[in-house]
Amino acid sequence: MKRFDSKIKNKIIVKTKEKKPAESLKPEKENVFSKKNKELISQKKSKLSSKTIEKPVDRDLSKQKGKVIPTKDIGRETDKKSNNLEKSYTLVIDKAKVDIKIEKEERGLSYNLFIPKIDIGTEALLDDVREDLISVTTVDVGEIIDQKSISKIKNKFMKDANRLLKEKIPHIENETQDFLVGILMQEMLGLGKIEFLINDPDLEEIVIISNKEPVRVYHKKYGWIITNIFLKSEAEINNYANIIARRVGRQINILTPLLDAHVVTGDRANAVLYPISTKGNTITIRKFARDPWTIVDLIRNNTVSKDIATLLWLAVEYEMNVLISGGTASGKTVFLNAIMPFIPPGHRIISMEDTRELMLPEFLYWSPLVTRTANPEGKGEVTMLDLLINSLRMRPDRIVLGEIRRQKEAEVLFEAMHTGHSVYSTVHADTANETIRRLTNPPIDIPPIMLNNVNLNVVMFRDRRKGVRRVFQVAEFMPGKDRSTANILYRWVPETDQFTTHNKSLSFFDELSRHTGMSQAEINKDLENKRNIFDWLIKNKVRDLKSIGKVMNLYYIEQEKLQSIMKNNKVEELIEPKKEITKSNEIKEREESKENQDKTKSENKLQQ
Ligand SMILES: Nc1ncnc2c1ncn2[C@@H]1O[C@H](COP(=O)(O)OP(=O)(O)OP(=O)(O)O)[C@@H](O)[C@H]1O
Ligand SMILES: [Mg+2]
Repeated sequence: MKRFDSKIKNKIIVKTKEKKPAESLKPEKENVFSKKNKELISQKKSKLSSKTIEKPVDRDLSKQKGKVIPTKDIGRETDKKSNNLEKSYTLVIDKAKVDIKIEKEERGLSYNLFIPKIDIGTEALLDDVREDLISVTTVDVGEIIDQKSISKIKNKFMKDANRLLKEKIPHIENETQDFLVGILMQEMLGLGKIEFLINDPDLEEIVIISNKEPVRVYHKKYGWIITNIFLKSEAEINNYANIIARRVGRQINILTPLLDAHVVTGDRANAVLYPISTKGNTITIRKFARDPWTIVDLIRNNTVSKDIATLLWLAVEYEMNVLISGGTASGKTVFLNAIMPFIPPGHRIISMEDTRELMLPEFLYWSPLVTRTANPEGKGEVTMLDLLINSLRMRPDRIVLGEIRRQKEAEVLFEAMHTGHSVYSTVHADTANETIRRLTNPPIDIPPIMLNNVNLNVVMFRDRRKGVRRVFQVAEFMPGKDRSTANILYRWVPETDQFTTHNKSLSFFDELSRHTGMSQAEINKDLENKRNIFDWLIKNKVRDLKSIGKVMNLYYIEQEKLQSIMKNNKVEELIEPKKEITKSNEIKEREESKENQDKTKSENKLQQ
């Protein structure tokens, strides 16, 4: 079986190697879109006759002209499950529907994408539509860099494509029309099939290694798995790298073969061209959470207990400093992001990251900054240290640093804590004691006495077997003369998958009372109030970032209104229609299991 796209293969190839150096450097004003597509059309003819040697990925389809009808053997809901089928679902992107099947194969799990095949007749008509589209749609480089323009372009493109299709195939069925328009959009404006992967909410990372190997993906539940997608040629990967580069106003070519880009959608893309990447051109796309994990999600999927979340709310509200530790991909950044909405509105927040990962609710007074690497001439670099020093001149109340890596940054950061700024950051360490070791030994090497300023250390843990993340420890640092130690307040018990209190707090509550003048009884009352709010949010499934932002804003500004909403169960005042629970199945699965209902019951109040 031939691949559907091998026939209609019509990628918009922009071959950098064919560009003259002067041309590639000049800020482009020409119509990128038509340029890409002219090449595309010229390549198409040869492609139509060429035979594919790639692994077939597409299903059989009816041969009826103008129709795209999926055959029955492909995994829709109603299909009989094969023994090897782990999971199957349908994705709709730009109205083009495709099926995903995750199947056990000899080489392990495989993520199989099935795109309906198009018959030759429709194919030819599509070619005409493509040519016409090129003449009616013009796109400037400036436009593809700007997010708003992109959606405008997409809308216009969609309209034109729909109109042209209707003209060419008057009796086209709606579903078929939607599919063809969607496919055209991805081919002509995007990264082709890779767009489906980018839009699959279950995938976190997409890696193209070379055209000889299958594209690999990191699946939320299954980890790294191979796909049935092969890129046609090295030129195609190069072309995608160029599309990504253009979207951020950069370039990637033989002289500058590395690209690290934060694309408009918030995804991060990294590309390395051959021969630097010895196997072939490679692209890594790390997806930005379109629907970020919120604290309610993390309580519901048992990453953290309600009591620990309440303690962190208290800490963040009253400007205590919090460090999040953990191993690679243990969920440090996710957790950091989840506690940011606790910052009261009106507090100036400056965040600094290498690539934008943080996403805060709109009510907050937030300036996100990102570092920049030098250009090919070695100019224009903005380091984390530059940002950190500059941020102190921006009169911040809260400083958020993506990750502590180097000594100089750590020094400035701890100095900022010392001078009364409230600081949040992450550090790579597996336990609270290791966090101390890491911070007080080379290369970071800050004096142990400085750790005094850290009020809470939250350690994240990723269970590699089950793929779940948990708050492993919550600790305070007890600085000694030569050496600090960690006083563990809460810890996670793997056997029961529950969180328990460990030691009594020795410094956190004292410090808090000193800062706020609150008595322990007042603190307890405050915690109780916060816990009740969490209960209500969880019960009413108020979870998305926007709603949590609204709740926090009301909490700080109109406490009575929030109480009245809660009392009268006016959930609709917080959640936009249909925006409710969509977060990963992990939560749903969890909620279905009864054993978790008394998950947090055994937890006692820390300060009692
Ligand atoms: N509590 C959680 N529950 C489920 N999935 C999570 C959780 N936390 C993080 N993840 C998933 O794990 C991925 C990695 O998380 P995150 O980026 O926060 O890790 P990290 O420790 O900051 O990684 P790095 O070491 O690369 O900085 C995210 O894409 C997210 O989807
Ligand atoms: Mg991180």
